[in-house]
Amino acid sequence: MCGIFAYFGEKTHSPKLVIEGLKKLEYRGYDSWGIAYKKDGDIAIHKEIGKIGDVHNIEELKDESKIAIGHSRWATHGGVTQKNAHPHFSENKEIVLVHNGILENYLELKKNLEKKGHTFRSQTDTEVIAHLIEDYTRTHSFFDSVKMAMAEMEGRYAIVVMKKDEDALIAARRGSPLILGVGKKHGEYFVASDIPAFLKYTNKVIYLDDNQICTLKNGSTHFFDTIKKTDVQKRIIEIDWDIESAEKGEFPHFMIKEITEQKDTLTRAINQDPETIKQVAKKIESAESVFLVGCGTAGKACMVGQYLFSKISNKQVSFAFGSEFENYKNFINKKSLIIAVSQSGETADTLEAMEIAKGNGAKIVSIVNVENSSMARMSDFVIPVKAGQEKAVASTKATTSQIAILMLLAYACDGEINIGKQLLVNAASQINDMLNPRYEEHISKIAEKIKHVESMYIIGRGENYPIALESAIKLQEVSYIHAEGFAGGELKHGPLALISKDTPVIALVANDEQKKNIISNTIEVKARGGFIIGVSPENQEVFDYWIRVPDVGEASPIVNIIPVQLLAYKLAVLRHVDPDKPRNLAKSVTVK
Ligand code: AGP
Ligand code: GLU
Repeated sequence: MCGIFAYFGEKTHSPKLVIEGLKKLEYRGYDSWGIAYKKDGDIAIHKEIGKIGDVHNIEELKDESKIAIGHSRWATHGGVTQKNAHPHFSENKEIVLVHNGILENYLELKKNLEKKGHTFRSQTDTEVIAHLIEDYTRTHSFFDSVKMAMAEMEGRYAIVVMKKDEDALIAARRGSPLILGVGKKHGEYFVASDIPAFLKYTNKVIYLDDNQICTLKNGSTHFFDTIKKTDVQKRIIEIDWDIESAEKGEFPHFMIKEITEQKDTLTRAINQDPETIKQVAKKIESAESVFLVGCGTAGKACMVGQYLFSKISNKQVSFAFGSEFENYKNFINKKSLIIAVSQSGETADTLEAMEIAKGNGAKIVSIVNVENSSMARMSDFVIPVKAGQEKAVASTKATTSQIAILMLLAYACDGEINIGKQLLVNAASQINDMLNPRYEEHISKIAEKIKHVESMYIIGRGENYPIALESAIKLQEVSYIHAEGFAGGELKHGPLALISKDTPVIALVANDEQKKNIISNTIEVKARGGFIIGVSPENQEVFDYWIRVPDVGEASPIVNIIPVQLLAYKLAVLRHVDPDKPRNLAKSVTVK
């Protein structure tokens, strides 16, 4: 979701540095941005609607300052306007802050502050925090004021606060990511919602945990836990992310780079420490109930997992979207196991589900791509996805790797981890052959043919049903074409009414026991005038277009999603949509 980036140190060009850092966080999705910095004993602010654009046109780049905060906003409270963009000032303009998340009790706090004479310039929940802190500063230190404000704030958030007459920055988090970068020079620090913002300067990081406050002052740091009410000693972690992998390289967009990388990422996912997989499989076996939890695309990977556990290891596993998990909390206890699946490891809905499960005493396993993310840090077991940084909003390479890991787990539960591994090694090598320029060219032709349609549908059965749902997400996200996924057998119960002449329907076919049925469903669509794109190991008479995929047995969900990812990408480009930053969406969804 939004990006926070702040600098504190000796570099005099901090406004420029902060704007450049915000640009590195653009992949997270945003609708407006702004910076605040110390200038001539005062605080200067600059905010704009839309994307940052060409940094050379930004006047403030020339200003000198050793302390600056920046923000890219994904609006939740209040429209996308310059006034609502962050940073936000307090009443007397002595406090200024940036905020990610939602202040759930902002109306109540706002009313109290209004009674005390505060007036508000924006419609945001964020501005209330600035006023609240200012209110406390009348009688307390800057640090105590932030602490006291936090005690009143409800919801998930990350904030970075600056005060006009203090040579300090205060950062705090509860439920939203915030990471400290320790600069190479003594006393130099970066604060960001994600590491790429400062990776150019340092790979030494400190992860702020929930309810912790960090003060940067006099060249040093001070960490405090607001729940335990004690100071905390934090560990500096050296991360080994390389800058190159965070860049597009020769590719026009991150999305196509990441689709192409699946040849290698799948191999990395399979080469897990078998002991971790076996240990987690044992936990699955011994748990009284097992829940897979995830949101969006990660949720669809969980649904595939449900089928795989049932088919491969004869194990009943439940699934809930993070946002729906609370409804099942009565079934979660000390003997339950929760498997959270996520690319970012920061999705608020999934985190909240994990907190509920933890509260009921359940054990938590997470399958996450971002190392040291909030989810990884709160789990009893972590299985790393190892797909490398995924920057396009639409998740691609992380998804196939998550499915591969779930498949390994399903085989491990059956005591057959090596069979699972062999199957996946074969799938990875076949994907390597499949992803070639001719293949892409073929998919481009199909995209050209359907680029003007209003709606399209995707059907699948068994573990390819969740892939039909996932295909719909991919197409919606980046092509903006109305797309819906259905279980093939469900068509006749309603959706068939939507089919008219030339409606594109993608049929996801695997060489399995469902093959005959899905082909029959496809014939039913064709009889109503539908235009059939078959994703299948073999061509069928009913297909108007055939996209060949290798026959990889149980691993078919992994190979079947890849051509649809490509099709969505090609459609985005043909329809002049930026596939990396689709409208209204964010990469890491840190609000509920
Ligand atoms: C994926 O294409 C979507 N942008 C979205 O559904 C995403 O999968 C979801 O927000 C969950 O994110 P996570 O994997 O980082 O938890
Ligand atoms: N809730 C705040 C707003 O709407 C912060 C949104 C964000 O995380 O970007 O301004």
